[in-house]
Amino acid sequence: MTSAAEFTGVTQSYGDTVAVENLNLQIAEGKLTTLLGPSGCGKTTTLRMLAGYITPSAGTITINGADATRLPPEKRNLGMVFQSYALFPHLTVAENVGFGLKLRKVPAAQRRTQVLANLDLVGLAHLADRKPKALSGGQQQRVALARAIAISPSLLLLDEPLSNLDARLRVQMRSEIRRIQSETGLTVVLVTHDQEEALEMSDVMVVMRAGKVMQTGAPATVFSAPANRFVADFLGYENFLTQPDGTLLTVRPEHLLVGRPDAAPVGGLNLPARVVDSVYRGVDNIVTLRATDAAGGDVHLISTTRRDTLTSDRDGVRPGDLVLAQARDHEIVHLAA
Ligand SMILES: Nc1ncnc2c1ncn2[C@@H]1O[C@H](COP(=O)(O)OP(=O)(O)OP(=O)(O)O)[C@@H](O)[C@H]1O
Ligand SMILES: [Mg+2]
Repeated sequence: MTSAAEFTGVTQSYGDTVAVENLNLQIAEGKLTTLLGPSGCGKTTTLRMLAGYITPSAGTITINGADATRLPPEKRNLGMVFQSYALFPHLTVAENVGFGLKLRKVPAAQRRTQVLANLDLVGLAHLADRKPKALSGGQQQRVALARAIAISPSLLLLDEPLSNLDARLRVQMRSEIRRIQSETGLTVVLVTHDQEEALEMSDVMVVMRAGKVMQTGAPATVFSAPANRFVADFLGYENFLTQPDGTLLTVRPEHLLVGRPDAAPVGGLNLPARVVDSVYRGVDNIVTLRATDAAGGDVHLISTTRRDTLTSDRDGVRPGDLVLAQARDHEIVHLAA
């Protein structure tokens, strides 16, 4: 793997707050890397250090192999899109997109060609002469993206660029950004706290917690083999059960079956449980159970198996019923203690 950027032992403290701690991370060239994690875990701080807006308290950052730890932002040739799109309101769409090129003294005719090519890329060439206020939120976000790409950045940094958009547009923009990334071959670092967005968009996912990297890997790997309970939890695993040896196993709620107490055991988990609650939701029910795990701990379990899952018998269950919580071996994830 060639790295477009690399963090080595990077720490960023604000007074007593350690926002990022001893970060070691390689950003793969030509790939889309997401920084995923809950609010306050250090995603924006990491991105801003990469952009040069803040200098690390310790450690080094290289960009394209050269030390960039103390390099000012304007010398890094990076495109950046922030959470709020922040277009220049008095400039047209084309002028917004061409802004960085003008600063770089690119001649007007060439600028126009490049601007139109970039607007084409985001599907907005027909709106080149409009002002930002005459655009929808999604269109403004695309203009911001075109503006960031226009300078042919060596890295494109996106800090929660879709969080202002409504749900449908957000989903649509995910694949747009993906398409633009693969068409341009740009190295992209995208910050998000949305696990679905990260799973759908990333080549590489970096899961962070409290300033530290918990796991790095391809989405399918991180999803099917979370490194620890935090990552599993963040990716929607429930049903954490302690094993006799002290390790944990976990099963996604959609894979936890609810059988009659005398159901045939499956290869995997077969744990007697008591129904706490069952809520009808159309395609599935949310069934909450209580059980005792191998360590003698009282645990709450959640099953959301679909109605058409034949082996899950939870349609008729009522609070107080005794059932068998079951999960097949290949749906069970084992976590280190
Ligand atoms: N300028 C600052 N001064 C002091 N503390 C800061 C500053 N900027 C960030 N922090 C703290 O550093 C930590 C990481 O902040 P950061 O903005 O990187 O988180 P984030 O992962 O981007 O969160 P969010 O998802 O809410 O945007 C937080 O605890 C935050 O309060
Ligand atoms: Mg942030």
